[in-house]
Amino acid sequence: MCGISGIIDHHPVTRNLVTSIANLEYRGYDSCGMALLNGKGIEVRKNTGGVQEVRSREKLDNMTGNLGIAHTRWATHGGVTPENAHPHLSQSGDFAIVHNGIISNYQKLRESLIGEGIEFRSTTDSEVFVNLVEEAYEQKKDVLGAFLEALKQIQGTYSIVLLSAHDPENLYCVKQDSPLIIGLGEGCNYIGSDINAFLEHTRKAVVLDDGEFAVISRDSYEISDVGKREEREKSILQIDWDTETTKKGVFSHYMIKEIFDEPQTARQALDVPQEQISQLVEMFQNAPRAYLMGVGTTFFICQMAQYLFSSLSQRYFPAISADEFNGVVPVVSDDLVLAVSQSGETFDTKFSLNSAREKGARTAAIVNVMGSSISRLVDHVIMQGSGPEICVVSTKAALAQALLLLRTALELGFREGCLDSSTLRDHVQELETFPELISKLLNEKSGFLRNLARTTSSVQNWIFLGCGIYFPVAMESALKMKEVTYLHAEGMPAGFLKHGTLSMIEASVHSLFFIPPPADVELHNRTMIAIEEIKTRGGTLVGLHFEGDSQAASLLDHAVALPEVPLLLAPFVEMILAQMFAYYTALDLKRNIDKPRNLAKSVTVG
Ligand code: G6P
Repeated sequence: MCGISGIIDHHPVTRNLVTSIANLEYRGYDSCGMALLNGKGIEVRKNTGGVQEVRSREKLDNMTGNLGIAHTRWATHGGVTPENAHPHLSQSGDFAIVHNGIISNYQKLRESLIGEGIEFRSTTDSEVFVNLVEEAYEQKKDVLGAFLEALKQIQGTYSIVLLSAHDPENLYCVKQDSPLIIGLGEGCNYIGSDINAFLEHTRKAVVLDDGEFAVISRDSYEISDVGKREEREKSILQIDWDTETTKKGVFSHYMIKEIFDEPQTARQALDVPQEQISQLVEMFQNAPRAYLMGVGTTFFICQMAQYLFSSLSQRYFPAISADEFNGVVPVVSDDLVLAVSQSGETFDTKFSLNSAREKGARTAAIVNVMGSSISRLVDHVIMQGSGPEICVVSTKAALAQALLLLRTALELGFREGCLDSSTLRDHVQELETFPELISKLLNEKSGFLRNLARTTSSVQNWIFLGCGIYFPVAMESALKMKEVTYLHAEGMPAGFLKHGTLSMIEASVHSLFFIPPPADVELHNRTMIAIEEIKTRGGTLVGLHFEGDSQAASLLDHAVALPEVPLLLAPFVEMILAQMFAYYTALDLKRNIDKPRNLAKSVTVG
């Protein structure tokens, strides 16, 4: 999974190509590069490091040409070296490609090309393809014919863009299991692995489907089926995202900017038309069994939803991590699988959805990115409308997903007779106040959380604990902490602590408790028992609690007191504040917050 960009224009494309891969950097950021075609042929500049680093080191801005391709990499095959960075040139230098995905039969192809005298410069699977194109071109003397001939030989997952010195009028691309989207400009066209590649220039896009290739010129484009080679009519997607939301503004990192976007994101989730929620509710009602599926943060959002469905609508829909889904869920015809995915491109989620479909399941999804694979794969999609989320770790998109699932559980609860109309109305009113409530809390509590983070940033081992729905909140918050601070943070149910982990407790091990309001009597009592267990054994206690909770306040070593909020909203409030705590801890530790090491935002490989 990497960021791919291509631009063909009547004007120089250098600056726009650099910006484009900078905007895609969240897809991978261990190396990057660009290839431009100019009067002298194809020039490639690439290296290891982030876009700004490579930009100045390799003087990317000095490149010239009015068509080119670019790439930002998250290594899969081949280490992080300048040679393995994309674009890759063919032996003669007349062809260049950028590739996302994995060519699974590359070893065999590579050996046979080496036998024919081709010298490989990298250890990637991708370099094989560009040499196959060149080899085919020598026979056919036709770039498109050579591209298609080379495609016949490769297996695996890929999106590829080809630039050829033999054809300054076109870029060529193909999609198979890795996303690729064409952006339509005026006198110029764009290609991107997602819409952020060209969002600054156009809001019109065409999404390629698997098995389609495109020939793209400055003023036109043609999309065809790889197998039949027949042209396909495709609809144009109008992108309604606001480019302002991709700007960091006064904030020093996207993560904190996106946390402060949450009042707006919550509003957008509440504004998603009720009919879309109702359609999903009907799918739950009609399915003999239903499953919730996501991975990473979205898995924990599904786990939160599991509790919401259970408490509000008395239905049990298990949440399963998408990477394990196939191994454990015996899906049968008419079951419902609801996937949650910010990017809509995560391989594990897409793969499990596809196999559930093959077994006859109905599918639905909550997705943020328009035109993404998952949004187009399922029977019913709810677009969460959170706008671009740039920081690799998910904050505002996760909150919106949780709220959409809460709305679904409320309506299902009402339809199933678990909630009467006045209770439903009260909850809906509470939800309406939520955006303003978050806005107030973020402003009021950021100072406290920053101080707490300063005090505790040297802690090496964290245990995050909660009961009931606060358990997935603890899990998600621990993941956030790990992702962005690189510290060890282990989430678990508070009641589980005594079954083993208690042996770790000593003063240096800090426990962060997600404490429900005292009015949530049963959950509060269970949480307090675990707090006492740690207190007695000399562990250090940190906690988020609500005002009036003197019992918790008296036991905690470090406490953040929150104003009283409706019980329904309390877990979401704590989740948001834990995002902020992870951010400030990472800030204190000077981590690479928006692009944590080894991670990428959308993991499109298995
Ligand atoms: C990657 C990211 C995680 C994210 C997960 C799911 O692993 O590093 O932060 O939660 O993918 O992504 P999705 O786009 O499917 O929500």
